Amino acid sequence: MHYNGYAHIHTIGCQMNVYDSEKLGTVLHALGYQLTRHPEQADIIVCNTCAIRHKAEEKAFSFLGRFAKEKRKNPRLITVMAGCVAQQEGKNAFQRLPHLDLVLGTQAFSRFSTHIAALKSGQRQIVDTAPSDVIFETLPDDTAFAENPVSKFVTIMQGCDNFCTYCVVPYVRGRERSRSWQSIVAEIEILAEKGIREVTLLGQNVNSYGAKENSLSFAGLLEKVAGVDGIHRIRFATSHPKDLSHDLIRAMADLDKVCDHLHLPVQSGSNRILKKMNRGYTAELYLSRIDALRSAIPDIGLSTDIIVGFPSETSEEFEQTMALVKQVGFDSIFAFAYSDRSSAPAAKFSDPVDDTEKMARLNRLLTFQDTMTQKKNEQMTGRVVQVLVEGVSLKQHDGFVKTTPHTRQMTGRSEANKIVHFPSDTLAAGDLVEIKILNAYPHSLWGTASGTVMP
Ligand code: 5AD
Ligand code: SF4
Repeated sequence: MHYNGYAHIHTIGCQMNVYDSEKLGTVLHALGYQLTRHPEQADIIVCNTCAIRHKAEEKAFSFLGRFAKEKRKNPRLITVMAGCVAQQEGKNAFQRLPHLDLVLGTQAFSRFSTHIAALKSGQRQIVDTAPSDVIFETLPDDTAFAENPVSKFVTIMQGCDNFCTYCVVPYVRGRERSRSWQSIVAEIEILAEKGIREVTLLGQNVNSYGAKENSLSFAGLLEKVAGVDGIHRIRFATSHPKDLSHDLIRAMADLDKVCDHLHLPVQSGSNRILKKMNRGYTAELYLSRIDALRSAIPDIGLSTDIIVGFPSETSEEFEQTMALVKQVGFDSIFAFAYSDRSSAPAAKFSDPVDDTEKMARLNRLLTFQDTMTQKKNEQMTGRVVQVLVEGVSLKQHDGFVKTTPHTRQMTGRSEANKIVHFPSDTLAAGDLVEIKILNAYPHSLWGTASGTVMP
């Protein structure tokens, strides 16, 4: 193939963006570009952006801003802002980044190669934030396996119809649409042939997969994916508590390949705040779903997202969030200070919580969770967990070096998504192994292979 130069893709934000960046990489690869980790070497720089919080947005401007000087030295350098911030900003992006060449919105990826061709023939400052009826799909090529040879994200639906009042996603990603199950399964079959053993199915609200298209339900899709030979494990994100169905809980319990882990964002423990967020459930309903999950899958690992300092959140309401987090006992949480997004309705809500107070609440929550995570990890000692091996561990705890100095330290994840390190000279990435947990650390577990290695 004709070699056109190097391309560097920088990803900010969610797992879906990691997947989208791979697709952009596939397009550039087909155009004759080789992907590089080194931006200074690249002829094309793409920043795939996230608009979910102010900080993520600033990261995009600051990353792309670094190339203004480069561009003066090398006018042939092509710089691209892709994804959510591109969709949100449109041509306004040029005010802060006059050297930018292309603003590629979330539904413009299918036109990426046409725009690159136009830029190469001398056009400048192209903006494409037009909607598209079709979901852009490309099959994975060899560029997709460089980062993680074992586990991959697969986006199964785009957009969101939930309109939580704090959230920019429905405005930047558009209405909810699902890919066909046939095309999802075809993609996963290719991944499995290339050695991928775990897939994480992604959507803003996977519970409503196929609802609009009147096709297979999400539980039905899980069954189809579980039928793909070579795939040992299936994860998915994100589930919306209001739509978490008994069918899905059953499918999780019945399908061996579906990991015993669920990310179920609660956002707040206060019913008044949940209502203002337009979440469509109460704290009591959330807790009853957790009970149902735990009675169907006793060892399930649970994680959640929480926003602190939503407009008008009182300290008592924050205490309700703390109480809910304590009551559930999550394995891990992702907690965020509320960030105003001008296109989301909450930006107009009164009584903002001041930044110092927001940070104080965030710190209290995170400090509590650190203790809980450590406690949850300690509860694992003495137990045997199934681990998917990801490769040689970069991190070597002192204890390992003392006990097994001549053995390779390997790393992998348990079904509940905990990082597990263990010594082994024989196991390789992609193996499923049973590990007896001997030590717990704040962010990982350590153990030894207990004998059984599954094919
Ligand atoms: N401010 C802070 N956090 C937010 N999230 C979404 N929008 C905002 C916002 N405006 C958080 C939610 C969501 C996660 C992906 O990001 O907790 O679940
Ligand atoms: Fe992902 Fe939402 Fe950020 Fe867009 S705004 S990158 S959908 S988290």
